[in-house]
Amino acid sequence: MCGIVAYIGSKDAAPILLEGLQRLEYRGYDSAGVAVAGRSGALRLRKVKGRVADLAEALPARFKGTAGVGHTRWATHGEPNDANAHPHLDGTGRIAVVHNGIIENADLLRDRLAADGAVFASETDSEVLAHLIAAHTGEGTDLEDAVRRALKHIVGTYGIAVLDAARPDRIVVARNGSPIVLGIGEKEMFAASDVAALVRYTRQVVHLDDGELATVRADGFRTFTEDARTTAKQPSTVDWEVGSYDTGSHRHHLIKEIHEQPDAVERTLRGRLDDRFHTAHLGGLNLDARELRAIRRVKILGCGSAYYAGEMGAQLIEELARVPAHAEPASEFRYRNPVIEADTLYVAVSQSGETYDTLAAVQEIRRKGGRVLGVVNTVGSAIARECDGGIYLHAGPEISVASTKAFTSTVVAFALLALHFGRVHDLSPADGRRICAGLKALPGQIREILAREERIAGLAAEYAKHEGMMFIGRVRGWPVAREGAQKLKEVSYVHAEAYPASELKHGPLALISPELPTVAVVPDDELLDKNLTTLGEIRARSGRVLAVGHRAPDPRHADHAVVVPRNEPELDPLLLGIPLQLLAYHAAVALGRDVDKPRNLAKSVTVE
Ligand code: F6R
Repeated sequence: MCGIVAYIGSKDAAPILLEGLQRLEYRGYDSAGVAVAGRSGALRLRKVKGRVADLAEALPARFKGTAGVGHTRWATHGEPNDANAHPHLDGTGRIAVVHNGIIENADLLRDRLAADGAVFASETDSEVLAHLIAAHTGEGTDLEDAVRRALKHIVGTYGIAVLDAARPDRIVVARNGSPIVLGIGEKEMFAASDVAALVRYTRQVVHLDDGELATVRADGFRTFTEDARTTAKQPSTVDWEVGSYDTGSHRHHLIKEIHEQPDAVERTLRGRLDDRFHTAHLGGLNLDARELRAIRRVKILGCGSAYYAGEMGAQLIEELARVPAHAEPASEFRYRNPVIEADTLYVAVSQSGETYDTLAAVQEIRRKGGRVLGVVNTVGSAIARECDGGIYLHAGPEISVASTKAFTSTVVAFALLALHFGRVHDLSPADGRRICAGLKALPGQIREILAREERIAGLAAEYAKHEGMMFIGRVRGWPVAREGAQKLKEVSYVHAEAYPASELKHGPLALISPELPTVAVVPDDELLDKNLTTLGEIRARSGRVLAVGHRAPDPRHADHAVVVPRNEPELDPLLLGIPLQLLAYHAAVALGRDVDKPRNLAKSVTVE
């Protein structure tokens, strides 16, 4: 989705903005642009449809200025083209604005501004901001006042950065529903929509809250509310390394992140297992044992892979704590006027912490008095800050659009929550010890699976020749199958359909043929025999089967098998999903796909 970078200091802004925009490329975009202002008061602008590299090439040699704003656009209003790319200017070319989010009353504002003589150069909703701010910029008005007043007319979401050629000593930024973070440098300041754009220059950051604005100058910043009241902010330190944002020795971010999973899981577990009472310490929950015991139900909300991780989390909570738990797509929940219950614990899951549908669900629950925990990777993100408490994943930055390490760390975080919850209820110390040992074994076991990459790559190349694949699993294996299908379709574009194995003969068995192979999740649990019967039914109809489980089934049941190490039955789904990530990655590579930037997708979906 769209990305924002801004710089003000004594250096040439353009190269810094381009570098920042490159760091945001992973979010997905279709055009890019920068505007800089020099002390002479002239504003220079370049924007192009295409990549940041195309923008860099299009920049003239004389593109000097020590303050500037840059943007990567993911089209919502108007097709991707040069005119619709940001920054947008007002009619006089004095104000430059970059905007993330959606302005819902853009048509109305456009008509009003046009009636007053504004001439629009693009089809975007964002351009109204430049004209509106210019309309509020009079003699003696501060840029911050003009922005503040203009924003009072806006209905919708925004993260913006505004540059005024007449006042090149400052940049004004504002946030409402779309993130803005300030970066503090040595006699220079940065702002961006994502810390990824800043870490090369500074680790000291300040996250704006919704409804907050900031004036950023080379020597500092001031934050304030829409009513011009100054706010106090404490800078925090980003602990992610610059190298976490590169592919390192790997060909793609996706495979790098798949291989980072043992370390990510170790970080999610670090300091959280209690060997004395065989439980988990989760300092951020903000719930004591008595409050936990009063919870009658758990409702987990997330989108896409975060939702599937939530499904695994719901199973873990039901199995270990025996408390009814259920996951639902946040994007559906928020639109159905949900009943919010005082004795239900709501859990919002998000890698980015910025997914708009999940954030809106959290806001709706809190508005109705519900209690929400966040299971979030990005520290200080909107969802993390909106929740009453939560668990940070500490998985490290996830750059690839397809989620892998955050997915796995999320399920581990749910296992910790379920263990803690279970030990407050009736989970015995012996079972607590068993789960603690199982969790500790995970990183080593994931390494063992990753060591089988070559064989899985071979299978992926063969199976990727088919136009579609069926993924099946039963009970614990069902969310594994759903996530496996999601990974395959999003990075390889091979059609993948996930079904509970138990449902196959109620319809989808009609699809089975040699052209539609099945990937079957078949752990060695109490349902193995039932799963083998289903595989027999597929094989009897000439369907090909790739089984993922704890032992290789005989040829009556599967053509190929990938065997994973055994953990505790409740934790096995975590390991069964890893080969499916490798399968999706290698299928995508075999088909020559743009693995880290799959078509039509963006990393964090900050619009509805
Ligand atoms: C799939 C994927 C998406 C995200 C979803 C939620 O691989 O990455 O389905 O899981 O958009 O994103 P977050 O977790 O950032 O809320």
